[in-house]
Order: sequence, then structure tokens, then C-alpha cells
Amino acid sequence: MEFSIKSGSPEKQRSACVVVGVFENRKLTLPAGSIDKVANGYLSEIIRRGDMDGKAGSSLLLHAVPATQCDRVLLIGLGKEKEFREKEYCTAVRNAIKALNETGATDGTLFLTTIAVRKCSIDWRIRQAAIIAQETLYRFEQFKSKKSKVRRPLRKLAFNVDRRSELKQAENALAQGLAIAEGVTLARTLGNLPGNVCTPGYLADTALQIARDHALDCQIIERAEMETLGMHSLLSVAKGSRQPPKLVVVHYRGAQDAKEKPMVLIGKGITFDSGGISLKPGPEMDEMKFDMCGAASVLGTLKAVARMQLPINLTVLVPTTENMPDGAASKPGDIVTSMSGQTIEILNTDAEGRLILCDALTYAERFEPQAVIDVATLTGACVIALGHVASGLFANNDGLARDLLQAGDEAQDRAWQMPLWDEYQDLLKSNFADMANIGGRAAGSVSAACFLSRFAKKFEWAHLDIAGTAWKSGADKGATGRPVPLLAHYLLKRAGKLN
Ligand code: BES
Ligand code: MN
Ligand code: ZN
Repeated sequence: MEFSIKSGSPEKQRSACVVVGVFENRKLTLPAGSIDKVANGYLSEIIRRGDMDGKAGSSLLLHAVPATQCDRVLLIGLGKEKEFREKEYCTAVRNAIKALNETGATDGTLFLTTIAVRKCSIDWRIRQAAIIAQETLYRFEQFKSKKSKVRRPLRKLAFNVDRRSELKQAENALAQGLAIAEGVTLARTLGNLPGNVCTPGYLADTALQIARDHALDCQIIERAEMETLGMHSLLSVAKGSRQPPKLVVVHYRGAQDAKEKPMVLIGKGITFDSGGISLKPGPEMDEMKFDMCGAASVLGTLKAVARMQLPINLTVLVPTTENMPDGAASKPGDIVTSMSGQTIEILNTDAEGRLILCDALTYAERFEPQAVIDVATLTGACVIALGHVASGLFANNDGLARDLLQAGDEAQDRAWQMPLWDEYQDLLKSNFADMANIGGRAAGSVSAACFLSRFAKKFEWAHLDIAGTAWKSGADKGATGRPVPLLAHYLLKRAGKLN
């Protein structure tokens, strides 16, 4: 798809389809009004007849509207003007792209990007539109013999701005949006790939490819070196698998001062979580191929940051392995020594995410990070707490938590903060080691975060539990690419590149 920014009146666009919005109670947006005016009330007449009520979700395709230069005009219902906020804007753009893709028009010009959204900049509207367009058009069909065919798919999409003076900043925002969309797409595709394809080796190869594409420094730590480093917690998860574990380390250096301390992102990369000896029940176990969505999201974010060439230093760590049952697998009751020296009693081999993340957290210390954010499909309990709307956020620093929550709000990829109070640490008591790897059913996502916090004492740290947000189940089963938008937005802001 080819994207561009345009400014100019809607009636003069030589486009296969011009897309304009209509609010509820028949209120035309400015561009819809301009078309209506040159067309002698053609739109208002249709609206008066009741063919388009402006309700959110409604749309109407018109052909050969008088006095316009375009082949079609697509009306998109926006709902009540008073209630038109960020979410409504995003829904309207999504509906427009869906409808546009089904019209037969191979190019379109969107005027929805000119609608004022309270407190939102032009940049935000353009960035969001680009991300939503790519998200809506995404298909994962590489394993289907017959690909779904759109008759005449959309090939060119233009976003309109009101003034020529806005073109430049809008183009910049478009570039940001497309970079983030590329990160989201990568995260979704990695997530959707089956476990027999997307193995630890595949994730490592993907990181190497990103590094090649953007001239980054990438190192893959193999089993032998993990042993030397003392990563026995990570290794204990890999013991039951035929696939060799990997620890991916990628450095993006974009800061003015090459020696500036990096931000570190860590992503859980369990390419299939069977539960191990604490085997999971059968139903929906296929969805545990998504247990590497944390890894996918940090690689996606890395891709976006590299494409935007943000002036920051970013290090991405991906501990990755399968979690499988086997004669050689870890057993409940086994005790391992983590890289930090702290010992862990593995009471449940299905609580494996924290076991691989803890060694990656300790490894991160050597970079003296500004902050560390780990992203993980860590606990079913987080899905019980927050459902599929918000990711769970935990942090040992309030400023970091606040900034991440705000980034999530602004990027429409929200998180909600959960407590990490000391009282919860008692849940992890073990009679035989420094800690157990589980804390019981109550507050399951909090005890998991508490476990991680014991390995994050030397830096500012946040943890995103994306168990409920990384993928969808049911009829539209598939990875969402979350929280790439949140992370990318947060890093854009840190880099001072947000308007
Ligand atoms: N990957 C799972 C968490 C998960 C489960 C995410 C279901 C999304 C949907 C994780 O490794 C796990 O198995 N966690 C256990 C922890 C428990 C044994 C303390 C869980 O949540 O049941
Ligand atoms: Mn598990
Ligand atoms: Zn898991």
C-alpha cells in the first residue's frame, strides 16, 4: 500500500473514492459540507431521506456525486459529535478502511483525518490512521492454499489535512505511523506463526535479520554460554525441549552520545508452553504458541524504533525456549540457582515465564540501563483480573509507571497498574530455597510480578503482563501486536519526537 498526505478541497480530488464523515442528527463534517455545497445539497437530501443517519458504524457509498472530480464518495457515520473522542475517531477510521477496501476503488482519500478530536494533534490523527489502516488490512494467510481475494484491493491511500502548512508535520507523523505499523505487523506475524515454525532459532534468526536490515549489533547467546553465565533458571525451562534455547541481545544505538545508557526491553519468548511436567489441560492448548508474544512485541518495537531512527539507545533481550514435558525436563520440587545467585524451588513447571525472565533481568544489569521494561504473557490470572482490554502494569518506580500508562492511553493500547506491595512478597515463601516460583491462586499476576521484582533491584523497572491482550481467541483468533503501540509511543515521547 502506498500512503500519502494531501491538502485540498474534497470536491476537487481526482480520486476513486473520497471519504468524509457525518455525525449523528444529520450533521455534516466540514468536508462533507463542501461536497454538499458544490453538489447542490445532494448529500443532505440523501441524509434527509434517511439513507444515512450518521450513527457510528454506518456507511454509505455514493457514485457520481454531482460537481465532484472523484468516482465515489463514501460517507462514514461518526456517532454523536459531543461524544467524538479518540476511540470514536479510531473506530471511524477502521470502518472507513474496511468499507473502502470493499468498494472496488483502488485508491482513496480520507478526510476523516481533518476532524478535530479533543486534545489530539494532527500528528496523532495521522499516526493513528496509518497504524489502523495497516492493522485493518493485515491478513495472515501464508499457510492457506487459497488466499482470500479482495476483488480490487486498495492500493493507494491519502490522508487529508486542512492546510498546506500542515503537510510537512503530517508527513512526518505518517512516517512514524507506518514504522509503528510495521512493528505491529511483525509482532502479529511472529505470534501467529505455528510453534513448529516459530522456534527459538526462528526468533533468533528474525532478530539477526532486523539487525542486518538496520545495521544493528546482534548477538545470540547459546546454551553453552548460558551455562558459563550461570543462567540455570532459564536453562531449567529448556531442559525438556529438543529445540536449543537462545538469548537474543540486540543493540540499537541512535543517541547523540553513543555512550548514553540504554533503555532495555525484555520479551518472554516461550515458543510453545505445554506447561512442562505440570502439563496444561488439552482445550485451547494450541494458543500457547502465542506465549512468545512478549518477545514478538519487543522485536516489533525495535523494528519501529530503528525505522524511525529515534535518537535513543535501546537494547532488546529475548530469552527464548520451548516449555515441554520430557524425561529430562524439570520436575516440581527441583531447585535451581539463577544467574543472580538466588535459588528457586520450581513448584510448578508451568510458571516458566518468570524463570526465563529472571535471568534476562540479571543479564540486563551489565548495561546499566536507564530503565528496563519486560513484556510477557505471564499469567492466566491477569486475564481474570483485566480481561482482554488492559495489559497489567507493575513497576518499582512511579514515574516510569505513570509514563507507560499515559503512553498506553495516548496510543489506544492501554495498561492498568497493579500493586507490587511488600505484603505480597510473602506469597513466594519456600521451605527449601530462597523462593518458590509460584504463589498460589490468589493474586496470581501480582505474585508473578513480585517474583520478577527480586531480580530488578538494580534499576528502574516495569513489567507488562500481556496475557489478556497479546492475542484474540475464538472466531478472530490471532495475535494483536499489542503492546507495540504503547511501547513505541513511550519511546517516541522519551526521544522528544511527539507533537
Ligand atoms: N503462558 C502462561 C500464562 C497464560 C495462560 C497466558 C493462559 C495466557 C493464557 C504461563 O506460563 C502460565 O502457565 N502461568 C500459569 C502460572 C501458574 C502455574 C502459577 C498460569 O497462569 O496458570
Ligand atoms: Mn506456563
Ligand atoms: Zn507461559
